[in-house]
Amino acid sequence: MSDKRTVTITLDGTNKKSVIPLMSGTAGADVFDIRKVYGELGLFTFDPGYGATASCESKITYIDGDVGVLEYRGYPIEQLAEKSNFLEVCYLLLNGDLPNAEQGKDFEMGVMRHTMLHEQLRTFYNGFRRDAHPMAVMCGVVGALSAFYHDSLDIHDAESRRISAFRLIAKVPTIAAWAYKYSVGQPFVYPRNDLTYAENFLHMFHAVPAEEYKINPVLSKAMDLIMILHADHEQNASTSTVRLAGSTGANPFACIAAGIASLWGPAHGGANEAVLKMLTDIGHVRNIPDFLEDVKDRGNHAKLMGFGHRVYKNYDPRAKIIQKACHDVLRELGIKGDPLLDLAIELEKIALSDKYFIDRKLYPNVDFYSGIILKAMGFPTSMFTALFAVSRTVGWVAQWKEMIEDPDQRIGRPRQIYTGPATRPYVDTDKRG
Ligand code: ACO
Repeated sequence: MSDKRTVTITLDGTNKKSVIPLMSGTAGADVFDIRKVYGELGLFTFDPGYGATASCESKITYIDGDVGVLEYRGYPIEQLAEKSNFLEVCYLLLNGDLPNAEQGKDFEMGVMRHTMLHEQLRTFYNGFRRDAHPMAVMCGVVGALSAFYHDSLDIHDAESRRISAFRLIAKVPTIAAWAYKYSVGQPFVYPRNDLTYAENFLHMFHAVPAEEYKINPVLSKAMDLIMILHADHEQNASTSTVRLAGSTGANPFACIAAGIASLWGPAHGGANEAVLKMLTDIGHVRNIPDFLEDVKDRGNHAKLMGFGHRVYKNYDPRAKIIQKACHDVLRELGIKGDPLLDLAIELEKIALSDKYFIDRKLYPNVDFYSGIILKAMGFPTSMFTALFAVSRTVGWVAQWKEMIEDPDQRIGRPRQIYTGPATRPYVDTDKRG
């Protein structure tokens, strides 16, 4: 929303000035709208990593990183985690409000009716090596959905957008579970629409035709919770990737495949996998001080994985929720004193009282504990980021849809400050030094 206040900047040594309007949102920092500055002063802004740039207007998710608040459409994550379920959260993110009973049922049916993959897509899996990372398979197969569902590729048609949203949310669990089954040489398990979204995922992932798979309600509740916590997180790297790809008019399946690629990195969705590796490498509580010294030695480029966040300069609220869920799951599974969890709790305690981490406001993020809970639930480390992608697909789709439906939407095209060579003539090979 525009505001009556302005910021004025004057270019030193000239009489050129720009009166920049301010905009306020419902909550969070105000912004100044620099769109006319280039025309008035001939200047761009410089913000590598976009730490100070609002790239869009959005009504979906709000984060207050200083106090550790996360809300989807205004609802605090703690309340959604306690009272809601993943498909209800999907409806909320996509449509702006919680569904009434009938809307909820229709939505659930709409999603669950799309869980199967086109049978021809099965053959794609055979093209991958068995040891392919599940995220490599996900990038490929999700992108390939655009080759199968031509009837929902018209991004300017609301019904087409609705169907592709259903398809993406419904099919990513099948794609991820099959990536795992392929890697271990087990038969693909087809989806079951009588199960909840989380139950169906556990079923496709863990079941084998040789015996009955019984779903443990504590585990399916934990799975649902993990999905809720990861469903959206405003303009993070992968979401911004989806928006940037979508701003060109690319189809939603291609855009979500781009988001999956962006999520893969260890600084983003790959962090929970990296946390587990880090804990395993540390090995014992007595090695924590040495490990932290390595992290603090800036020449090493080592990081305390699962700590720090671009936006949270306080405890990530998702980390608190997942830490509790972690204890519940381990108790249910009869795992007493899991060495990795014990190590993680001690590492967190020591880091939170260390000046290096205090000064830099580095707190645990969601990934610090998510790897431990996923491991206890029987997921191999390589699947962690794929599970994150399954949960985040709804957030990506909601943000993509919001962007396409915004009348002011333009292609995303940042500028740069060019610091390469000035113009110079071509030099023939025999005259080069
Ligand atoms: N361990 C050690 N030092 C750290 C860490 C860390 N995990 N995170 C940041 N720092 C240091 C930085 O080196 C920097 O130090 P300096 O001021 O002496 O140069 C200072 O803290 C400030 O950090 P920034 O670089 O400004 O943090 P930025 O916002 O660029 O990065 C990020 C955020 C990428 C998440 C970073 O904290 C990190 O790499 N953490 C580990 C990986 C991780 O857990 N990622 C998951 C993020 S949550 C998610 O995607 C779901």
